[in-house]
Amino acid sequence: MEKIIDENKQGNTLVLDPNKSNSRKLYIESYGCQMNFSDSEIVASILAKEGFNTTQELEDADLVLVNTCSIRDKAEQTVRKRLEKYNAVKRINPKMKVGVLGCMAERLKDKFLEEEIVDMVVGPDAYKDLPNLLEEIDEGRDAMNVILSKDETYGDISPVRLNTNGVSAYVSITRGCDNMCTFCVVPFTRGRERSREPESILNEIENLWNRGYKEITLLGQNVDSYLWYGGGLKKDFEKASEMQKATAVTFSDLLDLAALRFPKMRIRFSTSNPQDMTLDVIRTMAKHKNICKHVHLPVQSGSNRILKAMNRLHTREEYFELIDNIREILPECSISQDMIIGFPTETEEDHKDTLDLMEYVKYDFGYMFTYSERPGTLAERKLEDDVPEEVKKERLTEIINLQQKSSAFRTKAHLNKIEEVLIEGSSKKSDAHWMGRNTQNTVVVFPKENYKIGEFVNVKINDCTTATLIGEAVGYSDNN
Ligand code: SAH
Ligand code: F3S
Repeated sequence: MEKIIDENKQGNTLVLDPNKSNSRKLYIESYGCQMNFSDSEIVASILAKEGFNTTQELEDADLVLVNTCSIRDKAEQTVRKRLEKYNAVKRINPKMKVGVLGCMAERLKDKFLEEEIVDMVVGPDAYKDLPNLLEEIDEGRDAMNVILSKDETYGDISPVRLNTNGVSAYVSITRGCDNMCTFCVVPFTRGRERSREPESILNEIENLWNRGYKEITLLGQNVDSYLWYGGGLKKDFEKASEMQKATAVTFSDLLDLAALRFPKMRIRFSTSNPQDMTLDVIRTMAKHKNICKHVHLPVQSGSNRILKAMNRLHTREEYFELIDNIREILPECSISQDMIIGFPTETEEDHKDTLDLMEYVKYDFGYMFTYSERPGTLAERKLEDDVPEEVKKERLTEIINLQQKSSAFRTKAHLNKIEEVLIEGSSKKSDAHWMGRNTQNTVVVFPKENYKIGEFVNVKINDCTTATLIGEAVGYSDNN
């Protein structure tokens, strides 16, 4: 679930309980990060009020929406293939309308309309305008809104939960990103960083709790940078009044508030950025049993030269210091990474530095991709994509192999322990087994017996593969 781009979820169609008075049918498909899946829930919620029920049958749809990702070229190519498919269906059912949402909509804007492959283009901050845009397309005109906002957080929209297991849900807390990593398209497609009002976040969690949810993941491109001082962009905090500064809520404050108010709700968060993560976040994690002991802490490279060229505002030494501090304050905490392999000018030496950093940290798991040049980013404008594709692939294989070794090492450390697991659903491989996660986010499978989805169970870990723990339940945990 912590995976930034979860390959199992890519292209999921999302459905919710039908409202009988709604007559039109919406087919909505999502690609990319957790934030996109969360945004699709906001979109479905807005459209439910416009008379739409969701469907999983493309051929049945009156409106097809695809929530898109621009992070790597491959993500965009996948969406392009889907658009071809929608257009093939549209030739049979000309009344069907197609809209593109999310990062590709923001990046490519009216190019989609010029190519005549969609009817509607809506950027990530414009979903509240959907009712007006739908009126336009209903009257036969193309429609587009790609305006990025300084304050839109959708805090006032109660998202419907799509395709849910009824146990875990995403709650978004910030939108946009101000970091300007030179390889990354997100600051361009999702705009400036802004935080959502704490009360609206806590209300959403309360609502989920009342409906039986047991685990939430607080979402943001850079959650540690969360800052509420009465509204406004993060970059304008300097101009806030003394009163606003004195009463500001930081990410660790927010974690503390949520953990205290919902002591039995498991709390996760993603993603942390090394330059913004402060130790009070780790101390708050240590203070509360219900905050899960896992940080996703992308590093991208182990070479100081490359980190600088990426505009990651920390060195490998500072990263090691952060890791050492996390291990000291919270020894049981799992740590995961994102890596970019073959950033422009990356040498064998830089690559060795990355391997060396990985040896030091021994990450529990990670997400590793070769560099993909993104139009408009600083790296694209200033640096040549000069590492040959075969070299990128070779280095990627080496990095993945090393990660597998670390994962196996970390997974083995759970053997013979008794760990609390929240049951999420049946194991993919066996209907006789439950699947859930421990606090470190490692997947655990065990025989079902009489336990049920959504229960917290203590599981004795007897065996493991590289990434999965295998055990047997020894009773309910005291968190039920
Ligand atoms: N702050 C966000 C980053 C979103 S992008 C978050 O952590 O959720 C997710 C990951 O995609 C990044 O950590 C990076 O490893 C990878 N990525 C981003 N741009 C990329 C590019 N141009 N090529 C390859 N991978 C990239
Ligand atoms: Fe992208 Fe860096 Fe922000 S990876 S999302 S610019 S923290």
